[in-house]
Amino acid sequence: MNTYTSARVAPLLDRLFAEADAASPLASPAFASLSSDERQRLMRSKAEYRELYADLRAFALPVSRETGRLLYMLARASRAQSIVEFGTSFGLSTLHLAAALRDTGGGRVITTEFEPSKVARARENLTAAGLADLVEFREGDALETLASGLPETIDLLLLDGAKSLYLDILVLVESRLRTGALIVADNADYCPEYLDYVGSSENGYLTMPFTDDVELTIRTGAITPAAGSPGQGLP
Ligand SMILES: C[S@@+](CC[C@H](N)C(=O)[O-])C[C@H]1O[C@@H](n2cnc3c(N)ncnc32)[C@H](O)[C@@H]1O
Repeated sequence: MNTYTSARVAPLLDRLFAEADAASPLASPAFASLSSDERQRLMRSKAEYRELYADLRAFALPVSRETGRLLYMLARASRAQSIVEFGTSFGLSTLHLAAALRDTGGGRVITTEFEPSKVARARENLTAAGLADLVEFREGDALETLASGLPETIDLLLLDGAKSLYLDILVLVESRLRTGALIVADNADYCPEYLDYVGSSENGYLTMPFTDDVELTIRTGAITPAAGSPGQGLP
C-alpha cells in the first residue's frame, strides 16, 4: 500500500504545492516591504514571531516536495506511530506524515498551529485526503499546546514553526522522545542554538545536515561514560 502516491493523495499534494508555488510570501505587502536583513532578523526573533506569522497567514509556506517525500519515507521506514509536528500551516507536511501512518497500520500525528484560518485549511486538506482520523489538531502557540497531553513516547518530531523556538520545543518534548526517535528540523540554519544543542553529544543526539534545508537528528539517549569517570546517563 502506498497512500502517498494514491489517487486521493497525490493529485491533492500536486495541487497544494502548485498553489503554494504561485503564492510567494513576497506578495504580502507587509513582508515585501521589509529589507532582506529585517526579514532575517524577524525569522530569528523570539519576540516577534507572532506578528511575522500573522502577516504571513495567507501563505502555505510548506516544506519542499523533496522534504515532504523524505518525511513520508522516514515515518514509514521507522514505522513511527506517534508523531509530533510543530507548524501545521495548510497541512502539506501533515499529509505526508499521516499517509505514512496509514501505510504502517495507524497512529497519530499531533500537529500544532496558532493561526485559526490555517488550522481550518489543514483540516479540510486532511479530510479531502481521507487522513483526518490520524491527526490531532492543536490550535494555539506550541509552547502551550505541546506543554501537556503528549503521548508517553514520540517516534518522530518535525520542527517547522517559528525558527527561534526550535530549541524550546525540543526541550519541551525531549523527555518523551524514545531512543532512536527521529527529529527533522526544516530551515534549521536560522537557529544556531538548536544546532549547537543537538550537535553536542552530551545532550544525547546524533545529527547531520541532510539537505540544504533539513537537519536530520536522532535521539541516542544514554551516554556511555568514559572508563573510570563518574558520568551521568540520560534516560
Ligand atoms: C513554515 S510553516 C509550516 C509549513 C507546514 N509544516 C507544511 O509543510 O505545510 C510554519 C507555520 O508555523 C506556524 N507557527 C509558527 N510559530 C508557531 C508557534 N509558536 N505555535 C504554533 N504555530 C506556529 C505559522 O503560523 C506557520 O503556519
